[in-house]
Amino acid sequence: MKRWKVVSLILIALAIAAAGYGVTLVRRGFSALDTPSAIEELAATTARKMAVPSEYRQLHDPIAPSTESIRGGMEHFAYHCSPCHANDGSGHTVYGKGLYPKPPDMRAAGTQNKSDGELYYTIENGVRLSGMPAFHGTHTVPQTWRLVLFIRHLPQITPEELNEMNGWNPKNEADPAHF
Ligand code: HEC
Repeated sequence: MKRWKVVSLILIALAIAAAGYGVTLVRRGFSALDTPSAIEELAATTARKMAVPSEYRQLHDPIAPSTESIRGGMEHFAYHCSPCHANDGSGHTVYGKGLYPKPPDMRAAGTQNKSDGELYYTIENGVRLSGMPAFHGTHTVPQTWRLVLFIRHLPQITPEELNEMNGWNPKNEADPAHF
């Protein structure tokens, strides 16, 4: 067979496979309750990684971890982030469970292995086509770096700290914590 024929056949086969995948995606529906397929997850995480500019990826948290700086991040997180991410970062909240993509368990390697700069960039810019809002403009630079410190602290969080955070969570819909 001529080379161009082989190439065309491969292209046609790929187009049919892509169309088939598209149809299955649409058939699955658009419910936010589903768990993303492996292909969707890979595409989303790769796109997200590529979207973080390399000058951000290399940044280190300029604020040293101390009891006060971590506490600052903790208080802030309890108020603005825990409705989706939960005080312990697990994402097990009413909002978290109903989102697609769902907030990841931030205690796990997937988040902890990200660089400080990647976490900072995500908080500043949010994640398009997801529930993660951009906080640029509403949070100061030190506030955002303290949030990164707190995210690093999540795997070691104690029951006493979680208890304290409960007192800082927004209490009802009239609460001004409108993120
Ligand atoms: C309305 C819900 C919502 C709120 C509020 C929210 N997030 Fe998120 N967040 C998400 C979702 C959903 C994702 C997952 C996005 C994805 O998978 O692409 C996410 C992802 C992230 C990530 C990326 C984690 C990773 O492993 O890639 C970080 C960091 C983060 N959020 C921090 C915060 C901080 C800090 C706050 C508060 C200032 C906050 N979020 C508030 C929904 C929310």
